[in-house]
Amino acid sequence: MPPAIAIEVAGHRARTFVRQLGATAFADRGPYGATIASLFDAPDVWTLVARHQRPLGFCMVRVRGLDASLPAVAVAAGQRGLGLGRRLVEAAIALARHKGARELTLAVAEGAPAAGFFAALGFRPHGDAGRYPNGHHAHLLHRSIPVLETP
Ligand SMILES: CC(C)(COP(=O)(O)OP(=O)(O)OC[C@H]1O[C@@H](n2cnc3c(N)ncnc32)[C@H](O)[C@@H]1OP(=O)(O)O)[C@@H](O)C(=O)NCCC(=O)NCCS
Repeated sequence: MPPAIAIEVAGHRARTFVRQLGATAFADRGPYGATIASLFDAPDVWTLVARHQRPLGFCMVRVRGLDASLPAVAVAAGQRGLGLGRRLVEAAIALARHKGARELTLAVAEGAPAAGFFAALGFRPHGDAGRYPNGHHAHLLHRSIPVLETP
């Protein structure tokens, strides 16, 4: 991955990119694209964008006290497999830690390819997450957010 890629908190200008990539990447989840557009404006949700001249991917993180969740992470189709998704999730974890969260959960559709991605990032199965609007079964994944030791 080019080292010049920046991960930053999304400003207003990133709204269209997030809505469009969300609608494409989660097309199989029914109306989740619209959900992502509304999450963008939620007061307890931060959206991080990976950018190199143009936006390439995003990750949303919601923080509520000690608990954080990742409603969505997506990388543009031509940019996958380059480490961008990992960098986005690690930045989201750092943000959640900074805001006081100690536990992180997310839902992933049964049989989704992204399950391997989240396993590589240290997430483990954590029970049932019900069903998406399209009827697909979802699993809950979890990882803790350890407090960083200062030497
Ligand atoms: C899931 C997604 C965000 C991964 O982003 P990415 O930039 O391709 O992932 P990375 O290149 O950072 O991969 C990070 C690690 O996950 C692993 N990984 C990525 N995709 C994987 C897959 N489908 N199966 C198994 N492992 C996978 C990589 O091998 C890598 O492992 P390593 O760091 O130990 O070498 C991207 O594929 C995507 O946007 N998918 C569509 C949207 C989606 O399904 N989002 C997740 C549900 S919210």
